[in-house]
Amino acid sequence: MTDQSNTPTPPKKVPDGNSLFERASNAFDLKGFKPAPVPESLAESPSKRIRSGMVRPSQPTRADERAQTATPDTPGTSPTDTVDQGTPDPVRFQGERRYVDRVHLREQGLIQPEGAVTGLLEEFRIVKRQLLEVARSSLAGRGVANGQRVLICSPHPGEGKTFCAVNLALAMAAEKDSEVLLVDADFAKPSVLSALGLEGGPGFMDALADPSIKVEDCVIATDVPGLYVLPAGNQTNNDSEYLASSRTVELLDCLTRGAPNRMVIFDSPPALAASPAAELAKYVGQAVLVARADRTGQNALEDACSLLSGCPDIKLLLNAAHFSPSGRKFGSYYGYGG
Ligand SMILES: Nc1ncnc2c1ncn2[C@@H]1O[C@H](COP(=O)(O)OP(=O)(O)OP(=O)(O)O)[C@@H](O)[C@H]1O
Ligand SMILES: [Mg+2]
Repeated sequence: MTDQSNTPTPPKKVPDGNSLFERASNAFDLKGFKPAPVPESLAESPSKRIRSGMVRPSQPTRADERAQTATPDTPGTSPTDTVDQGTPDPVRFQGERRYVDRVHLREQGLIQPEGAVTGLLEEFRIVKRQLLEVARSSLAGRGVANGQRVLICSPHPGEGKTFCAVNLALAMAAEKDSEVLLVDADFAKPSVLSALGLEGGPGFMDALADPSIKVEDCVIATDVPGLYVLPAGNQTNNDSEYLASSRTVELLDCLTRGAPNRMVIFDSPPALAASPAAELAKYVGQAVLVARADRTGQNALEDACSLLSGCPDIKLLLNAAHFSPSGRKFGSYYGYGG
């Protein structure tokens, strides 16, 4: 992810042949790191890729038709997913839709749901596509289990977990074939609701601690099509113990029951500062480990990786990277002016 702030690019000139990624590789010892496979849709020829990114709404796709016939709270069905006849009724998120504050999103440099295509959106589109591919394979019985569930984590506070989780959720909500539930799992320092400009309410930890509370009743529907939010709820002194209890499995199953195309994104607390991150990692099929450029150290990343080892698929995301003045970025490349 590029840095979206107006912070000037560091004056230090990057020597030729020592790019950002080469520096990251040296700093984090990524020589043995294998990048995730490029999804088929991105492996097309560049010209086709640009065209497909500019499909006009006047050219309805099969996915659009499905979306029109689906009820608002029932995710559509992806052509790549086989939904077996025995799929249970989807758990519905009822309740009034609440307004996501677009001005507030803009002020924080977050993706605008109805806004123009920006460099930031393009970056998160690439990230979401890789996560969706893994989720689809997972649903088809290949690869990791629970691929629909994605933990956004980092070693320390302030490295961009919430920034990435919210942007990823906004980018995923725009998918025609899926919807997204963004779970604020930072119980000690919840910030998803404030990032979206939403009012508080009971949440995940309340439902975990009190069996009389239904988790689906805590979910907030938003006016952004396909975007739902589960607040963190009230912190307890036993967050980790509640997360380790069998009720967590039950609640998480409930959130995706009968909804194969619902992605669940967890905004995690920092792995090295709070124990719930390691607990949460055991329930998700994918984790995105955010490394803040020029701040997150190699040892911290390694420690975080081992704490999150309950998750079978950990991806590294370099956040707040500064491009060199001569560097190219998506917005300028595609002429989006983002
Ligand atoms: N790529 C980016 N460009 C610009 N600003 C960013 C970027 N990533 C993060 N920030 C900003 O950095 C600050 C910290 O980010 P954020 O709150 O997402 O971190 P966090 O890892 O969730 O922190 P915590 O662990 O305290 O919850 C925020 O003000 C956020 O807007
Ligand atoms: Mg956060």
